[in-house]
Amino acid sequence: MAEQGMTARPEIEPLDDSSVAAWRREFPVLARRTYLNSGSYGALALSVKAAMEDYLRLRLEEGADWGHWVGRNEAVRAGLAQLFGVRPAEIAVTTSASAGINAFASCLDFSGKRNRVVVSDFEFPTNGQIWHAQERRGAEVVHAPVADDGHIPVEHFERLIDERTRVVAVTHVCYRNGRRLDVEAIARIARERGALFMLDCYQSAGSQVLPLGELDVDVAVGGTLKYMLGTAGVGFMYVRESMIEQLVPTCTGWMAQRDPGAMDITGYDPAPDARRFESGTPPVVGCYATEAGLAILERAGMPAIEQRIVTLSGRCLDRLSNAGIATATPREDALRGPTVAIRSTNDVALVEQLAADGIVTSCRDGNVRASFHFYNDDSDIDALLAALERRRPLVVSS
Ligand SMILES: Cc1ncc(COP(=O)(O)O)c(C=O)c1O
Repeated sequence: MAEQGMTARPEIEPLDDSSVAAWRREFPVLARRTYLNSGSYGALALSVKAAMEDYLRLRLEEGADWGHWVGRNEAVRAGLAQLFGVRPAEIAVTTSASAGINAFASCLDFSGKRNRVVVSDFEFPTNGQIWHAQERRGAEVVHAPVADDGHIPVEHFERLIDERTRVVAVTHVCYRNGRRLDVEAIARIARERGALFMLDCYQSAGSQVLPLGELDVDVAVGGTLKYMLGTAGVGFMYVRESMIEQLVPTCTGWMAQRDPGAMDITGYDPAPDARRFESGTPPVVGCYATEAGLAILERAGMPAIEQRIVTLSGRCLDRLSNAGIATATPREDALRGPTVAIRSTNDVALVEQLAADGIVTSCRDGNVRASFHFYNDDSDIDALLAALERRRPLVVSS
């Protein structure tokens, strides 16, 4: 059913220039714009559009089909599990990354001695705000600060994580500057000191191989709008199987029950698997889109996607460095994600002027973000560099 109405996808395997040229035709915006904004939203593929139209067609022609909707939701759960190398029972299909963090936070008791939450100064606002909201429930939230070199070294977490720490909840890649935290080391420290570890992988999921089951991660959250090529309104939450039973959310709903069909209003009986972290009616329209987006990632191949993003973004950083343009993103591959953050004297004006040149970027915190996906190519880097040269007063020289 899900395939109904979808356009044929190109027959390609490795991501060399010719296969990418074929893929680029699947994303119409790429023929019209230099699209470097996948860190905000991934480019829309024709197959994703077709999947959403399929939802509308079914609604128009058949009315509603609850069983089919649930099937789409389960297909997304299975696709996410495959992408992250985990079991479907460990995946909750949520409506946003925020919904996942809220569900997780609602499980935790902050009334005792272990009431500390460690976040970092690289967090997306939601992962600061939700944990600070837990202060009303007894939590104490501390932030790992940025060092003089712009990074947050593992030692800054090491100093804060101790026997008072309930949870360490950090971003994988910073949305402002593209810097990557050493989450394996941070997770290890959390584990050694008896704290839970939550990863916000919204800025990395879909841009790299991310075997959540092999990392020391208890919980991971994100969404499908960016590198996962899906849409707003669908997020995900991974919870390690051995943790699920001990985490009982008070942020819940009927679809999170063991048997949603029981329609029982006299009690609360959470599902035995990660579905207990969901809440109401599944984000069905978005599930159609997400299933199609996940199919692209699978078809292009995550290792090849990762390799291409690292190469393109590294090449962009080299070109910027040669042009004497300062960045907030380090060159070293291990220290960065798919976004290159360019320092600007007026980031809002620079984004506007790049848009006038047909280049789609975004800005945060004084930086213009150029984020790369596998469908980008060298012509995008050429266009960006040429435009930045023309707007030299708006960039910071290195
Ligand atoms: C790292 C990170 N976390 C969380 C969010 C917010 O996600 P949501 O709006 O799905 O809650 C974003 C959105 O840009 C993000 O980049």
